Amino acid sequence: MKREGFNSKAGAIAAAAGSAVGLGNIWRFPYVTGENGGAAFLLLYVLFMILIALPVLMSEFSIGRMTGKPVTDAFKTLSPKGYWYGIGFSGVVCAFVIMSFYNVVAGWTMYYVYLSLTGKLQGLNPEEVSQTFEHTMSDPLISIFWMIIMLSLTGYVVAHGVSKGIERYSKILMPILLFLIIVVCVRSISLDTENKGIYFLLAPDFSKLSIKSVLEALGQAFFSLSLGMGTMTTYGSYISKKQNLPKSAMSVAMIDFFIAFLAGLMIFPCAFACGVNPGSGPGLVFETLPNVFNQMPMGYLISIVFFLLLVVAAVTSSISMLEVLVDFLLSRYNMKRPRATVLAVSLTIILGIGCATFSPMLDFFDNLSANVLLPLGGFFIILFVPLCIGAKKMREEMEAHGGKFKLFPVFYFLAKWVAPWAILFIFISKMLSWMGIELFA
Ligand code: PHE
Repeated sequence: MKREGFNSKAGAIAAAAGSAVGLGNIWRFPYVTGENGGAAFLLLYVLFMILIALPVLMSEFSIGRMTGKPVTDAFKTLSPKGYWYGIGFSGVVCAFVIMSFYNVVAGWTMYYVYLSLTGKLQGLNPEEVSQTFEHTMSDPLISIFWMIIMLSLTGYVVAHGVSKGIERYSKILMPILLFLIIVVCVRSISLDTENKGIYFLLAPDFSKLSIKSVLEALGQAFFSLSLGMGTMTTYGSYISKKQNLPKSAMSVAMIDFFIAFLAGLMIFPCAFACGVNPGSGPGLVFETLPNVFNQMPMGYLISIVFFLLLVVAAVTSSISMLEVLVDFLLSRYNMKRPRATVLAVSLTIILGIGCATFSPMLDFFDNLSANVLLPLGGFFIILFVPLCIGAKKMREEMEAHGGKFKLFPVFYFLAKWVAPWAILFIFISKMLSWMGIELFA
């Protein structure tokens, strides 16, 4: 059977950006940055994006397109001997883990569309806004109900196939989201009369960094770009040979960073203006944004549309995870697409119920995936490049569109000598710190 592909270059970039841009940028980035002291963490994050995440993204795209196969088969095709195919399997496990908690948070977002629509967020003071979030989080029925709706939506798109579903939805809606984020940013910054939020995000205080922050900056880079579990490998397999791969990867990384950065500019000023602690954890977005909406013209409408588009951004990311699972079931068990989708969604719902009822499980899955599973997956993927593919074949793939990739030597140097060892070093430092040995004071 012929594999489906993306119809156009813009479509492929939009779909990959749709996978990258999601709750990772708007929910996770601000809360993790807030917990790790702001600007210094942002700098680390940028550094890791360029030196580690971008080379991994280029590698995933290339491996996918080189083989044209789903992630579990891609590594086996390129290296039939050895255990590299394990990367694909760990990706499948990872997709389950992330989807289960991701859709609970996405469900909260959808619940906030409902709350906005019914006017229940209107006129609340910051304390009441925080209480509303606490209530949302602590009522398992709310979380389970909306998570199931989210997963069904994701399943619906995936069941309808790659180009018709994913491509069409991502292309129209992402630019609208970007526009709204900018509007909300402007209002949030104007609320923060002392500019504390801007300082928090832009004036680095390195004394706030610990080895935990280093690992979390790395984890956030992987999570945000959907790396380390084969999502981008799978998407790479849908990209046409005529497309400039390195350039596409750079565009996706830039869009992804820009939206996370804007999300920071949107959340922190408002947090300071409304007395919400920027380090208050996973509830940060839900505890700050309703306050901005309450203080802007047409806030009622903007609140509805904003949360709705956030749902869409979450769905386009969730789709890319489900796609990994469905692609696996399709190729391995020869299932039909709708049946594979229903099976994957049902299994995820079971795991999701655990996250929805028991918030430590949600935190644990969030931590485990971003800070352990994804960077570890990324480590093996990037190691695979010099060990099993080699510079010549890699270059051929990256230049298959007929142009030259001038920065190839830089890419290859990073892939061979920097990225894998940096990931390993950060991991080992973190483990030593668990054992009480601090490499960094
Ligand atoms: N990158 C997505 C986001 O930022 C999350 C994601 C992680 C998607 C891993 C796919 C794979 O929301």
